[in-house]
Amino acid sequence: MASAFKIAALFFLLYGSWRWSAVSGASPMTPSDMFEQWIAQHGRAYANESEKSYRLGVFTRNLDFVNAFRQAGNRSYTVALNRFADLTKEEFLAAYTTTRLRPSADSYPGLQPFRYRNVTAPSSIDWRNEGAVTPVKDQGSCGSCWAFSAAASIEGINKIVKGDLISLSEQQLFACDNNDDGCAGGLHYRAFSYVVSIGGITTEENYPYEPDQVTCDAGKQSDHAVSITAYEIVPANNEKLLMNAVANQPVSVSIDSHEFQFYSGGIFDEPCGTNLNHEVTLVGYDTADDGGPYWIAKNSWGESWGEEGYILLKKDVPEKEGQCGLAIRAAFPVI
Ligand SMILES: *[C@@H]1O[C@H](CO)[C@@H](O)[C@H](O)[C@H]1NC(C)=O
Ligand SMILES: *[C@@H]1O[C@H](CO)[C@@H](O)[C@H](O)[C@H]1NC(C)=O
Ligand SMILES: *[C@@H]1O[C@H](CO)[C@@H](O)[C@H](O)[C@H]1NC(C)=O
Repeated sequence: MASAFKIAALFFLLYGSWRWSAVSGASPMTPSDMFEQWIAQHGRAYANESEKSYRLGVFTRNLDFVNAFRQAGNRSYTVALNRFADLTKEEFLAAYTTTRLRPSADSYPGLQPFRYRNVTAPSSIDWRNEGAVTPVKDQGSCGSCWAFSAAASIEGINKIVKGDLISLSEQQLFACDNNDDGCAGGLHYRAFSYVVSIGGITTEENYPYEPDQVTCDAGKQSDHAVSITAYEIVPANNEKLLMNAVANQPVSVSIDSHEFQFYSGGIFDEPCGTNLNHEVTLVGYDTADDGGPYWIAKNSWGESWGEEGYILLKKDVPEKEGQCGLAIRAAFPVI
């Protein structure tokens, strides 16, 4: 009995070391060691031991996912145990995405003037290199992606037209834009519509992001740093016209982010739905020697997620909706 137990214990010890050393490199670490390291790295604190042990279980399952993904190989993108490593997929989706991106049938402006129909797009563009993109921001656990997506597009066109890169206030959109629903969700083009109607948007510095402050500060709302005159919708489900638009300015898009939790770099080519639950800003596109054409999307989950806060998404896919539905609902502001 006792020796059988010892053999079993030894087996689990060895198996465990082998299993986890695959991830951590040379020194064998248990999931528990790795969890402690991750807690220290992310400054996490749990209310009590039972919560912590539950989170260790979640972390371990996520570690298994990351290991299995890496062992399967042959992928154009990578995954990592990032800041979301102690969340189940359901918790992650509930906290950082929104189910309330209202369906496109809901007064979606549809056909409108579209100024970039006949332009010639270059083979690549990266608005970061043109100084038209502010540092990656962090929406926190709140479905306010739409405000970050819209602000990034306005920051971009303002730099392109006026020459100044000014970080703009997501908080104004979040708290003052009654077209949209704060942490419960919203739509980038409705945020543009709000900015047009109110006459402008103030700076990030003047009105910083505080998602627990849901009441609009009317004084800050009327202290405009940047104005837009209109917005335009990119004709839906047309990556070619979307490319024409991104060739000219950063563009806000809705996207299906259900598989984004552990993305850490490379071109995201996961077969992916069109169940739009998030918004980001396309700030460029290019073609990789090995991975083919891709979009460069600025996200708002902080710089530690993805490629320093960005995700590269497969471009020119067979589905007209684009990778993860990114061509379904795209819009940009006009100055
Ligand atoms: C531990 O913390 C969790 C999360 O805050 C809470 O739901 C749970 O009731 C706590 N358990 C104990 C035993 O205090
Ligand atoms: C790797 O993936 C590509 C496409 O994703 C596929 O065409 C190829 O056959 C795969 N190679 C191996 C060795 O699995
Ligand atoms: C684009 O070209 C088509 C025909 O080639 C023309 O009918 C249309 O007016 C042009 N649109 C714009 C916005 O210039």
